[in-house]
Amino acid sequence: MSVTWALPFNIKINSRSIKSVSPQIYKEIHSGTLKNFKEFWASLASELEWFKPWEKILDDSNPPFYKWFVGGEINASYLAVDRHAKTWRKNKVAIIWEGEPIDNDKPKDIRILTYGDLFREVNRTAYMMKEKLGLKKGDRIAIYLPMIPELPIFMLAAARLGILFTVVFSGFSSDALAARIIDSNAKAVITADGGWRRGKIVDLKGIVDNALEKAQVSKVVVVRRIGNNTRIVNGRDYYYDELMKDIPWNIYIEPERMRSEDPLYVLYTSGTTGKPKGIVHDIGGYMTLLHATMKWVFDVREDDIFWCTADIGWVTGHSYIVFGPLLEGLTEIMYEGALDYPQPDRWVSIVERYGTTILYTSPTAIRSFMKYGEEWIKKHDISSIRLMHSVGEPINPEAFNWFFNNVGRGEVDFGSTWWMTETGGIIISNLPGYYMIPMKPGSNGMPIPGIEADVVDEAGMSSKPEERGYLVLKNPWPGMPLTILNDPERYVKVYWSKFPGLFYAGDYAVKDEDGYFWILGRADEVIKVSGHRLGTYELESAIIEHPAVAEAAVIGIPHEVKGEVPVAFIILKQGYVGDDRLIKEIINLAREKVGPIANVEKAYVVSKLPKTRSGKIMRRVVRAVASNAEVGDITTLEDEASVDEIRRAIKEFKEELNNRSK
Ligand code: WT7
Repeated sequence: MSVTWALPFNIKINSRSIKSVSPQIYKEIHSGTLKNFKEFWASLASELEWFKPWEKILDDSNPPFYKWFVGGEINASYLAVDRHAKTWRKNKVAIIWEGEPIDNDKPKDIRILTYGDLFREVNRTAYMMKEKLGLKKGDRIAIYLPMIPELPIFMLAAARLGILFTVVFSGFSSDALAARIIDSNAKAVITADGGWRRGKIVDLKGIVDNALEKAQVSKVVVVRRIGNNTRIVNGRDYYYDELMKDIPWNIYIEPERMRSEDPLYVLYTSGTTGKPKGIVHDIGGYMTLLHATMKWVFDVREDDIFWCTADIGWVTGHSYIVFGPLLEGLTEIMYEGALDYPQPDRWVSIVERYGTTILYTSPTAIRSFMKYGEEWIKKHDISSIRLMHSVGEPINPEAFNWFFNNVGRGEVDFGSTWWMTETGGIIISNLPGYYMIPMKPGSNGMPIPGIEADVVDEAGMSSKPEERGYLVLKNPWPGMPLTILNDPERYVKVYWSKFPGLFYAGDYAVKDEDGYFWILGRADEVIKVSGHRLGTYELESAIIEHPAVAEAAVIGIPHEVKGEVPVAFIILKQGYVGDDRLIKEIINLAREKVGPIANVEKAYVVSKLPKTRSGKIMRRVVRAVASNAEVGDITTLEDEASVDEIRRAIKEFKEELNNRSK
């Protein structure tokens, strides 16, 4: 391997303990990092290993298409794998993987991969992709795998070769998969003969076969996880183990020298239209943000056992299961299945079995643990935990306190990190860097060093403390998107046009007197169901495909465990009767079109929807009714009776939810 130039790669895994400071002191430290934010980030980037140094820290000549560390050459797979396999970490455990099935109270399948193992498997897989699938730099692939070690292996092998990959969460349907294959122009799909979820087998290969009736690829690789026979289309489908069996264990594939501003992956995320957005992340900036946040927010040390409970199908898993922890040479846990399967204490047993020290999970998971009760937690010794964070949606103070007391022993640092698919990594935290500011249950803390965030009003001016406004980022940051794949105009329009020059996150937020950020939830037509991001418009588009449906409006209604659940209001075409059978059919259609994660909790047939005189559905009004908020200005509303009808339906639904949880 010819490394012509490299800065010392001092992964600063250290003995530093978290220091507590007042919000004022942190604010001073933070503002110091903003003065010269480009140089500040460059100092972080220089802790990675570059094949060639960058020529320019930030190319801001064509905003908002910013480019970080331009001209620098780097490879994410090299950083995450080779770096460690070359040192004493070669035999350090990288991934402890636990499968879902249980046998006699013990996990049936455990796989332990050292950095050496990972290096070899990534190289062999890269060789296979190159020589047997004929893939090369610049090609695209889609990865539709369950949470098994082959998922990070394929991501890292693709990154090694400069193949752009898009991971599709295994809870998405064949239609959603097909749309992503088509949009990303994938040449191959990597899947499995099935995956375990709550004791049931998910037929991933069958879903791929259906998707491939609409989308074409030349190759399909099937990883055997379950061991059942799947349909094999000759010349197109191959079993992974068969492709791999004659590849030497020590084959070496040189990592491509990628440009820092080259794309690493595309990850689709929901927006306010039916079509998901393919967020494209770069390499150099993205890896820099991950390195910084692993150090600052997770305070990682050599002997940590890191566990992020997310699915790799979402950005949290990309950043904090695959690229972040491996970049730092950590030992981490990867778990295949449901956290409460077969019993509510499954996740606690994992913490105990491997001695998790850092736990990264979600409010939805926390609220479900809380519902099961602390008895399940007391069955296990989880005193190894020293740091915890949650992510994905706002955490209610009650759930925060419960987790802090029952899992964090009332003493473990715990925060709610705010970020999103688009930001690439954590942006706001109560352990934002070097220092820890006092916890405030329900708050997100402050922006990490080098990042200028704010809450602004409709005019783009800073909101007063405690006043609700919109969350924005004021400077470009490493880890930011390169663009939306195939749609740069949409990238400009969605994120950079509401407030010119500022990145608009799409969230409502307030800043309190101390400067803490409190992210309140989405300001657009996006909802968070169990932390999963869904566009209500995606659900509506699916629902109106049903022949009986004339119009539909979907909104999120608060739910005590899932955060929000989608509820649909439907106007039927003449001649149809909204009986249970029809409603069920409509709900199933949404599941079929989008996937099991898009479970419409309830659908109501109404005679009218609140509309403007020009005929546009006023979702704002429907949402306001749902949240008991003031309906606001309805002078443009065509028929006020429509609001009463919705109000009645929502009241009924809330009562039903109440009864269910009793
Ligand atoms: C949206 C982004 C970031 C990884 C997982 C989600 C919401 C995320 C928090 C938090 C309040 C949060 C926002 C954001 N969100 N974290 N700690 N507190 N809200 O990524 O699927 O792209 O969703 O999740 O609404 O915009 P995503």
